[in-house]
Amino acid sequence: MNKPKIVVTRKWPAEVEAQLKELYDVQLNESDIPMTADELKLALQTADALLPTVTDVLNADILSVENKRAKIIGNFGVGYNNIDITSAKAQGLVVTNTPHVLTDCTADIAMLLLLMSARRAPEGERLILNQQWTGWTPTQLIGQKVTGKTLGLIGFGRIAQAMAKKAHHGFGMKILCYAPSQPDATIMSDLQATRCETVEELLSEANFVSLHCPGGSATKHLINEERLKLMRSSAHLINTARGDVVDSKALIKALKEGWIAGAGLDVFEGEPAIDPEFLALNNVALLPHLGSASDETRIAMGNRVLANIAAFFAGNEPGDRVV
Ligand code: DGY
Repeated sequence: MNKPKIVVTRKWPAEVEAQLKELYDVQLNESDIPMTADELKLALQTADALLPTVTDVLNADILSVENKRAKIIGNFGVGYNNIDITSAKAQGLVVTNTPHVLTDCTADIAMLLLLMSARRAPEGERLILNQQWTGWTPTQLIGQKVTGKTLGLIGFGRIAQAMAKKAHHGFGMKILCYAPSQPDATIMSDLQATRCETVEELLSEANFVSLHCPGGSATKHLINEERLKLMRSSAHLINTARGDVVDSKALIKALKEGWIAGAGLDVFEGEPAIDPEFLALNNVALLPHLGSASDETRIAMGNRVLANIAAFFAGNEPGDRVV
């Protein structure tokens, strides 16, 4: 029997690519240059499975290309807002993602950004790199203590809960959350967490606000000018979710005018483009979408995609099916 034909849109960890080569008739992307819309359409017409990631926008136009051969899209990533799910469904495509395996690494990056922002690490590093540091002084770069402060999490899924655990059990932080449905009582009690009725309530009470909701039209600019103004002037905003959850222009204004003290961002509206105004600010820590970027996690994500497509081609339900 012929092996299924697979197209992988970006370079993956070598050991996962080796398995793909062994199991499938696979087209890898050695150059790692993102595929164009036409190349993605061709992949859907010529392969049985397309394995995209967060940088591949699979919109209605691409997904509705005629004479499709593909039956499954195995997304390399837990977030799948890069895929127009309504059209995928209408086109009869199965879509899978990679939950669970990146939970801790992404929560670690959120915690890293929280600490960097609170303790003014970007400013300190800039001082050293610019060779402007003249030595320790009692009043230099005074940041905020993290231990014992209040962390507010917007969205309370796996990554938010993992961050809450680290923050509560590691840093003695008080946990607030905002989630559309009532979180599990055992988890809430372990974290001694309080559920806020509204985003507004959480924003006005927290010292640190961390975003963990999915991207997409429902959450676009959830954090806007009006809501940023509700935050404490000593508060910090952390975003490891999706860039468009925050109105960047409003955030830049908030950071410049001191409505909030700082921010830590791993994701950006329109990334990889970054609003140049962020680069001139001292009170923002910037990372290039590193949430899941550890050896173990990226291999585990690849293995998760492998397991999903293997189940599909064996005629079974893929474990991480989202559509
Ligand atoms: C995801 O999986 O959604 C991340 O943003 C990419 O690692």
